[in-house]
Parts: sequence; structure tokens; C-alpha cells
Amino acid sequence: MAQRRILVAVSGGIAAYKIPELVRMFVRAGHEVRCVLTPAATEFVSPLVLQALTGQPVRARLFDAAEEGAIDHIALADWADLLLVAPATADVLARMASGMANDLVTTVALATRAPLLLAPAMNVNMWRHPATRHNVATLLERGARCVGPGTGLLACGWEGEGRMSEPSEIAAHAELLLGARDLAGKRVLVTAGGTRERIDAVRFLGNRSSGKMGFAVARQAARRGAEVVLVAGPTSLPDLAGVRRIDVESALEMRDAVLAELPRADVVVKAAAVADFRPAQPAAQKIRKEELGEGRGLAIDLVQNPDILAEVCAQKGKRVVVGFAAESHDVIDSARRKLARKGCDLLVANDVSAAQAGFDVDTNTVSFVWPGGEVEALPPLSKDEVASQLLDRVSKLLEDRS
Ligand code: PMT
Repeated sequence: MAQRRILVAVSGGIAAYKIPELVRMFVRAGHEVRCVLTPAATEFVSPLVLQALTGQPVRARLFDAAEEGAIDHIALADWADLLLVAPATADVLARMASGMANDLVTTVALATRAPLLLAPAMNVNMWRHPATRHNVATLLERGARCVGPGTGLLACGWEGEGRMSEPSEIAAHAELLLGARDLAGKRVLVTAGGTRERIDAVRFLGNRSSGKMGFAVARQAARRGAEVVLVAGPTSLPDLAGVRRIDVESALEMRDAVLAELPRADVVVKAAAVADFRPAQPAAQKIRKEELGEGRGLAIDLVQNPDILAEVCAQKGKRVVVGFAAESHDVIDSARRKLARKGCDLLVANDVSAAQAGFDVDTNTVSFVWPGGEVEALPPLSKDEVASQLLDRVSKLLEDRS
């Protein structure tokens, strides 16, 4: 079993006494495990025991300078391949459902992009209470998975649902959620963000791409075991764990970086919004309007940028090459034409006229357009989920070609 990074978040219930056993199972399976606890959880399980089992410092406080100095809470959230909340008490479920971040566990849960697995444990009446039902439904709707609770005699003396699932069952669910390492050994080259085409010393032509879509592809590819190189246009997004990032500014710089990395790549995903044109002669200094003359406009001659995707496709070999297209109308027909013109294996067509889709949002509405003309329309999804669905298709293409 390839090593994965599991963040176990323990909240304050009697079932917390089972967590050391669960942690041992993960460690024995070869995973790297870290634990965070709510303050209440420290009453039920010793942080020292979890520290000894994981070989990693255990954190329980959000605002502790020493703990934050060792690994800050956002780094923890980014580090995880899976966040497991076990036991998940009624209180922690309620706080997570309402998006609170008032302790380390809920803060990490809000910040992470890793899959979330919940192992609830509580009194049967608390579990059946409409408030808890609503909170669990909210979390499941957002993509969390739940294991248990089981039924039986509860610590509080009541009988019914509310027992935390056995560690072996939780571990099995975790393995399922950690999913395939189907891209292990593969090199994936991703482009993200928009390019900036220089007009003069201070101005540029650009577009609204934030880089989020391409970063999601890079993140998911790394999670699936790929060696990932991310060629990124200017963006405020932070580096991704396990991803080599090359920052570029213009389309020409992006082209150089992509072509330099191409020989080593098995997969190329071009999510970047590359400028089709650039100023023919950027001015070395700032263009001053006074120097143009009173009331005069400025005409800028544009020349075409090279089409990087088409160049990559021209030397595709056995690689899998995926393009993206942001369209505001006539989405599928235009995407089909683009796919045929550029020659990629799959084109992801974005309907940027749809709400919460395309540029600078966390969600996207896309269709996969295939060379045969088939179209798979996906529902609105987070960009990470789009990336993950895309990589499922890429993985299948690689398998078919091997
Ligand atoms: O970054 P975000 O804010 O998350 O936004 C995501 C996105 C909307 C930018 C992304 O999902 C997307 O759709 N990217 C493609 C943008 C686009 O419209 O590209 P295009 O239709 O101009 O080009 C089609 C394909 O050719 C793209 O894969 C592009 O990277 C590539 N191309 C385009 C021009 C060029 N000179 N070289 C290229 O390689």
C-alpha cells in the first residue's frame, strides 16, 4: 500500500479511546498519520499516546505559538490526503455544518480540500434529533462521507444507533476514500492561470483566469501519485504540496516552459487561458498620454501568439493531451471545432455563461468533448471534483494505451 497522509481529528466523546487502535492500523498500513484534537477530546484520549503512535507532534490548540510554529493549521489542512473526524460528536458535526472555525478541528475541516470522512458517535437521541439529522445531511450534501454509527448498547446506557464504527470498518472506508494511486509513476504537466502580454513598462493585456482550475488538476494529479509540474501564469495561489511549480508571465514564456518539460511528460493538461495576441512592440518605458497629444487614443498593433496546445499535439506521441475551452455561447459546437483544430485527446468545455462557472470561482460546469463527437455533460461541481473526474478519464486513456 502506497503511503498516504491521514489527518485524524478527534472530538470529545468516549469513543475516542478507540482512536489509538485506529491510528495503529493506519501506521501499520504504511500511512503517515497526524492527529489534531478538540480541547474536550484530550479528556478522553492522551495526546502523548497518539504522539508516540504516529511519531508526530499532536495538536489541540488553535492559537498556540509553539504548535503553530512547528506546523501551522493551514499547512496541516493542505498536508492531508484525507481528513477523518472520529469520533464525530453532535457538537463537532453542528459546528462543521455551520462552517464554524472556532477550534483547531473545525478550522482544519474548513480549510482542507481533502476528502472528509466522518465517524459519528453519540447518544441515540442526539443522533436522531432533527438538528443532528440536518447537520449530517448538510455535510453529506457537501461531499463528506460517513461511516456508521453502529447500533448497540451505548456508553450512556441507552441502546440504539450512536456507537462509533469499529476501527477496522473506519480504516476500510478510509482506504476507499483515499482512492487509487492510479497515476503513480506518471508525469503530468499542467498549465494554469492567464498570461500577461506586455504593453509597456507598467501595463499588460490579461484575462480573468485565477489559476484555480489548473491548480485543482495539479493538486488532484499529485494526490493520485503523479509527478506533477505546474506551469503557472501570474496568480495569488500558494504552492501545492508535492508539485513542482514554474512561474511564467507571458504566452511566449509559457510556451518555452511547456516545450522544455514536454519530453518528460506522459500527460499534458492545458487549463491556462493563454492570450491569443500580444503587442507587436511593447514599449520599454511607460507610455505617457501627454506624449501622444491632447485627446489622442492609443492604437496597439497585436500579433498572434503561438498556439502552445497545437504545438504540443503536433508532437503528442503516446502522451495524453487535454485542452480546455472557455465558451460563452455555442459551447459544444465551438469546443468540437477547437478539439479538431488542435488535435488533443479530450477537450474540457467550460460554459462561462453559467452561474459559478469558469473564471475566478471555486466551481465549474463543464462538458467533456471527445474526438468522436461524444459529449459528457457534468453537473456543476467544485473545481477539484471536475479535476478528479477529468483524471479518471485520463487514467483510462493511459491504461488503454499501455
Ligand atoms: O483559472 P480559473 O479562474 O480557474 O479559470 C479556469 C479557466 C476558465 C481559465 C479554464 O477552465 C479554461 O477554460 N481554460 C481555457 C481558457 C480558454 O478559453 O482557452 P482557449 O479557448 O483560448 O484555448 C483553448 C485551449 O488552447 C486551452 O487549453 C489553452 O490553454 C490552449 N491555448 C490557447 C491559446 C494559445 N495561444 N495557446 C494555447 O495553448
